[in-house]
Amino acid sequence: HGTSRVNEKGHLEIGGVDTLDIVKEFGTPVYVYDIALIRERARGYKETFERMGVKAQVAYASKAFSTIAMVQLAEQEGLSLDVVSGGELYTAIAAEFPVKRIHFHGNNKSRDELLMALNHEIGCIVVDNFHELNMLEELCREKKIKADILLRVTPGIEAHTHDYILTGQEDSKFGFDLQNGQATMALEQSLKSEYIHLLGVHCHIGSQIFETTGFLLAARKIFSKLHEWREAFQFEAKVLNLGGGFGIRYTKEDQPIPAAKYVEEIISEVKRQARHFNMEVPEIWIEPGRSLVGDAGTTLYKTGSRKEVPNVRNYLAVDGGMSDNIRPALYEAKYEAVLANRVLEPVEETVSIAGKCCESGDMLIWDLPLPKAGQDDILAVFCTGAYGYSMANNYNRIPRPPVVFVENGQARLVVRRETFDDLVQFDLPLLEKVNK
Ligand code: LLP
Repeated sequence: HGTSRVNEKGHLEIGGVDTLDIVKEFGTPVYVYDIALIRERARGYKETFERMGVKAQVAYASKAFSTIAMVQLAEQEGLSLDVVSGGELYTAIAAEFPVKRIHFHGNNKSRDELLMALNHEIGCIVVDNFHELNMLEELCREKKIKADILLRVTPGIEAHTHDYILTGQEDSKFGFDLQNGQATMALEQSLKSEYIHLLGVHCHIGSQIFETTGFLLAARKIFSKLHEWREAFQFEAKVLNLGGGFGIRYTKEDQPIPAAKYVEEIISEVKRQARHFNMEVPEIWIEPGRSLVGDAGTTLYKTGSRKEVPNVRNYLAVDGGMSDNIRPALYEAKYEAVLANRVLEPVEETVSIAGKCCESGDMLIWDLPLPKAGQDDILAVFCTGAYGYSMANNYNRIPRPPVVFVENGQARLVVRRETFDDLVQFDLPLLEKVNK
């Protein structure tokens, strides 16, 4: 998919660049991003909104993959940006992303983080709870300014996805509960405040969702509340943000509907609800992360040791693992992979791909059909673009891999590989002179 293909040498090529050349230049493991595919996904979302004639913002959820180059790419494509921490905000500012298109999320923003957002005059703060609402009011009073906010509400939806990434259900750490009066109290407080300008409502029901039912249900629940709020407080929401969570295809078992379809159905439902309650159609904001960058990313590893467990399984280890992709260990996430240097060779065996971390759970793929892999083959694991680099870590003091963007036959390093010196840079000695 995307610009990936097999070239005349039988090698995997991405963005017009032979992956073996990438390995030669940057080593392994390495994250490779197909930039044309990210652009295509971004344009797909934006065009759907334009075609259906609604005002919209498509905010890239940068938690999926936040680096300066990625933020710049989001800017080039006219996306807005969702950040969830001072660090992600700092990255956006460092990339000179237009501040008015930055939205700040999070269930426990610190005073300093809120202050940073206010000082940079970002577009909108998505307020999650009363603690934050009070703190924000206080900061705005001190600064004599008015902050644009959305209230994050929890609509009480159980989206069908992995339990850890469910967020819209009632028993959730996020947001003001829509059913029990909390959301209405937060609304009243915001409307009364001189220091708050309430743009509308936000919800996010979960991640890696394959159907639209949950989004439509959330929209309906929110509209019936908006109706109530109009009657009681004459409040009209200018913005309705329905979050992200649109699923992608990691393996052939995954059957998400096309991205445009989610958006079309959401827009139709919002229009229907607005008509039903005789309201203006609000601006619709969405926050896709995974579906913008997930399938654009491929990780290249070098194969190493093998272990055969007779009549049970063959293990083939690679030079990375849960330090660069924690998703299999954390969520039992599944991936597909090929040998990038021998793509066209027939399948000869089934091997399980082990990472190099000292932990039995560090397995990247179970029972993968491959040609008989030796040492120093290149394994390409697909769909690692979202929550791969962004959740990478230095477990076992393994340096994080570099990130390379490929497009139109050009490879560009956008994050360099960590060195051992990087790993010890924050360490302070117990003894002043070690081995000197
Ligand atoms: N908006 C909000 C408020 C969110 O919490 C999230 C994801 C998104 C947008 C973007 O969701 P996406 O379109 O990427 O599904 N680490 C997990 C995913 C956690 C998602 C957390 N929130 C994973 O690797 O699957």
